[in-house]
Amino acid sequence: KSLVFEPAAKPVPADERARLLVDPGFGRVFTDHMAIIEYDDQKGWHDARITARQSFEMDPASPVLHYAQEIFEGMKAYRRPKGGAALFRPDANARRFVQSAIRLAMPPLPEEMFLESIRELVRADREWIPDTEDGSLYLRPFMIASGSFLGMRSSTQFIYAVIASSVGSYFKDAPSLSLWVTRDYVRAVRGGTGEAKCGGNYAGSLIAQAEAIRNGCDQVVFLDAIEHKWVEELGGMNVFFVFDDGSMQTPPLDGTILHGVTRDSLLRLARDMGLTVREELYSVDQWKADAESGRLTESFACGTAAVVTPIGSVKGVDGGFTIGGQSSGPLTMRLRSALVDIQRGDAPDPYGWTEII
Ligand code: COI
Repeated sequence: KSLVFEPAAKPVPADERARLLVDPGFGRVFTDHMAIIEYDDQKGWHDARITARQSFEMDPASPVLHYAQEIFEGMKAYRRPKGGAALFRPDANARRFVQSAIRLAMPPLPEEMFLESIRELVRADREWIPDTEDGSLYLRPFMIASGSFLGMRSSTQFIYAVIASSVGSYFKDAPSLSLWVTRDYVRAVRGGTGEAKCGGNYAGSLIAQAEAIRNGCDQVVFLDAIEHKWVEELGGMNVFFVFDDGSMQTPPLDGTILHGVTRDSLLRLARDMGLTVREELYSVDQWKADAESGRLTESFACGTAAVVTPIGSVKGVDGGFTIGGQSSGPLTMRLRSALVDIQRGDAPDPYGWTEII
């Protein structure tokens, strides 16, 4: 069941690694190893290994290159205060990866294989976890359709792999995010792939994200595809609203929204803090009206990469609006700390969310 370990012949020297870890940014610094498990219709999953990080050799007719048969995950390993490393709810990612595979007509990877690949890669590259306040090792499991066939059917060959990137904050230095509500593009429609974590969803969001940047904003907001009215999700993260009565709201998982692990964890933490939490539709017009009347006091984005990031302003709706003091609100920060303290081992974990490795 375990993965064969083939250590990298030329790992990055320790002094160079230390230099890279000072300010790694997001998704630019990669570790020495990767995990690979191969699949074909005859052998099933086979040749599981941890090996040197390396290029793939692929046939130019690989289905992933033509039809985007691809899924991925995002999760983090944290350095523990007393040494070692911790994963946060890796079982949730393993389950979601199975669901994404089913939607993209790919062979589901058994959850235990997914978990072992993550554990073994973190063990091999634990020295790459930054020792900084906001640093972690971002793990990127993914699966692609390989082989050589241009007909329209699911592939018979797949590669599952995990790469790891030493990261700091996804959004650096911004006290809060400015959002752009796109009117020209939608992200997902019920029955489509919006719930699956597949590359195609993100490829389709890039033009809207570019539109947001052109309008001086950090992130795009997608509305529902039918009424163009209900707030759904940002380019790559979920969204929450906080009200002056202390209640919280986030869009429901109705088939178009990614089932965020951070989203789910925050809902649990908020409920256990005694807050009223609603998973209900919220219109962009209501968002503006509530921000202007003061009924809405805070909004934030959340995701594995983004963690919990306050939203300060929204453009693209009737002249735009600002939220609270355009900085981090008290509830946003309280939830963020509650989450991060568990993830980093600075607080007890009553939920059994962390796995020490
Ligand atoms: C994550 O939070 O892991 C994401 O999927 C966002 C990523 C696309 C940057």
